[in-house]
Amino acid sequence: MSTINPPRGTHDLIGDDSLKYLYVNEVFHKAAQLYNYEYIETPIFESLSVFDRTLGETSDIVSKEMYVFEDRGGDKLCLRPEGTAGVARAFLSNSLQRSLPLKLYYSGSMFRYERPQKGRYRQFHQLGIETLGIDHVLADIECLQMASHFLAQLDLQGDTELHINSLGSADCRWAYREKLVSYFENYKSELSEDSQRRLSTNPLRILDSKNESDKKIISTAPQLEASLSTESLSRFEALQSGLEKLKIPFKKNSNLVRGLDYYNHLVFEYKTNALGAQDALLSGGRYDGLIQTMGGPQTPGIGFAAGVERLMMLLKQTPKKLAPVAIAPMSDDANSMATQVAEVIRVQGVPTDFIITGNLSNRLKKATRMQARGIIIIGEDEIANNVYTYKDFATSQQKRFTTDDLRKLFSSER
Ligand code: HAM
Repeated sequence: MSTINPPRGTHDLIGDDSLKYLYVNEVFHKAAQLYNYEYIETPIFESLSVFDRTLGETSDIVSKEMYVFEDRGGDKLCLRPEGTAGVARAFLSNSLQRSLPLKLYYSGSMFRYERPQKGRYRQFHQLGIETLGIDHVLADIECLQMASHFLAQLDLQGDTELHINSLGSADCRWAYREKLVSYFENYKSELSEDSQRRLSTNPLRILDSKNESDKKIISTAPQLEASLSTESLSRFEALQSGLEKLKIPFKKNSNLVRGLDYYNHLVFEYKTNALGAQDALLSGGRYDGLIQTMGGPQTPGIGFAAGVERLMMLLKQTPKKLAPVAIAPMSDDANSMATQVAEVIRVQGVPTDFIITGNLSNRLKKATRMQARGIIIIGEDEIANNVYTYKDFATSQQKRFTTDDLRKLFSSER
């Protein structure tokens, strides 16, 4: 039989990876709820217009990475490449204006037709938060506080560096764009092909270039900060002083522009050195114009999304699952005692599993392979006396227990 592989850029989640995936998700859910974010789930596919009108025609995502298809009814749809535009669409579809401010969080698959490499997939998972309706620096600070709390819970803070930048208001950005275009025009022939193209489509993205000769030209390019209005600058300064007070280390990076068009004012990325070219672990920013672009009322927004696969790759160890108790009914007559005691133990929060076949030494081996903490043996003698023999693998002690004794033994786990 020939091997059947998953589509390029996708992967199955099994074994240690699935433990890591669940752990990262669990830590995120806890952190988001601690910050009082509410869970939202939006469809995995949306009308194409949700993304192509909002992320920016010239962005990489819209110009070359979206999975676009027409369904049997002729509707143009798109597998979601990111979560923010879908949340903004849900805000409008559900008339949530009256519920502002809103703090929402999500987790799920995203799809981008990118060239697969370490840390970059075509189907990947994001964990994200979005705060809608608060145009205040405190919302920006809280967003970064939540991000840093989350990374600290995963013990990843030491492996990451927070980069921040301000894109200012739309006006500031236009003024800057003009300065940048006239500067890069002087070096046009020396720029990489990609950057030459971006000069007419999205010149700010040139600042993001990883090309070495581009980098040299970029190093003496005009700085965005010089084009920021007094208001934009003081917002950015308030954010920085808020972060300093919280002792959240950061680095100002005037070349950080992000690949999506909807941002204004704060943009940020938690970067890592551990993943090669795919150095962004968690990224986001403010998007005060997005909902208006979709035909809604002007509604400020700020949020971030983290890449689950990238976080998983950085985890220092595989999370341990709770060791189960193995249960060995030695004959069919023992089955009902086995199923009953299994439930008594599960209710105490301890996983249990049956080992149904084999002689005793065989079952002991299987229990060890299962990484069980111990085994409950139910033979003829146990049935006759309505008791269970429990062998604890840590102490090698073996004793008889009534159901009540077992309940007590495992209740300390809760
Ligand atoms: P983004 O930077 O496009 O932002 O993606 C967020 C994160 O998703 C990245 O930092 C990275 O960890 C992960 N990621 C992106 N592409 C891939 C890929 N192909 N394979 C694996 N991981 C990937 C957004 O999506 C915005 N919606 C974030 C946001 C939320 N801004 C405001 N609110």
